[in-house]
Amino acid sequence: MSGNMCTKPGVFTGGRLDVDEKEEKVVDIYVRGESVIVYENPWVEGAPPPNIPATARDRLPDVDTSCKAVTEERDRRESNINQHALQGWLYFNNSLYYFSSARKTWNDSRQDCQSRGADLVIINSREEQEFTGQLKKLTWIGLTDSETEGIWKWVDGTPLTTSYWGPGEPNSDGGRNEDCGEIRFHDRRNSWNDESCGSSNFWICEKPADP
Ligand code: BGC
Ligand code: CA
Repeated sequence: MSGNMCTKPGVFTGGRLDVDEKEEKVVDIYVRGESVIVYENPWVEGAPPPNIPATARDRLPDVDTSCKAVTEERDRRESNINQHALQGWLYFNNSLYYFSSARKTWNDSRQDCQSRGADLVIINSREEQEFTGQLKKLTWIGLTDSETEGIWKWVDGTPLTTSYWGPGEPNSDGGRNEDCGEIRFHDRRNSWNDESCGSSNFWICEKPADP
């Protein structure tokens, strides 16, 4: 997408505002930085300037700059997503994902992600769980209990809250040290298994879509 997001610097007219009662109103919206001021009596083109309180009036000179910044931010973000797409990354819900086509140990997979400016995927929603399950291969995710047995943590150090362990997992199968999380049970919503970190798996990297 391209073009400027700002229709008219300083004053937006004809905006639609859905208030609680679902009443439709035409308003003027003044924006500066993170402040938004809504005027319910819109200014008609050609009419005398609206009676804007001094504080709001003071904000107006910055609106143009602010709109430009928002437009540039959007363009930077889109160009970042497009550049990643050319290298095989997929965009989903504000993140970029790299699905490997090779297999490595959990540590080597993580290193590969880090060398791409990312880390192993952290799954924190049902949508992301479904999205990452699409590969239908044994796939490392950014989950490990190698620090303290039984305490599962994501690679960013956050504790595991919502989990999607498969039936009977994690089980340190047969007394083995299974300290790394993988996607294994592809026909189930709860698809995770704990596996030995030295096994060779495919992997998924994730990084934020905003540079
Ligand atoms: C895996 C175990 C897993 C088990 C489940 C084995 O092949 O290595 O981690 O718990 O399958 O049946
Ligand atoms: Ca297991």
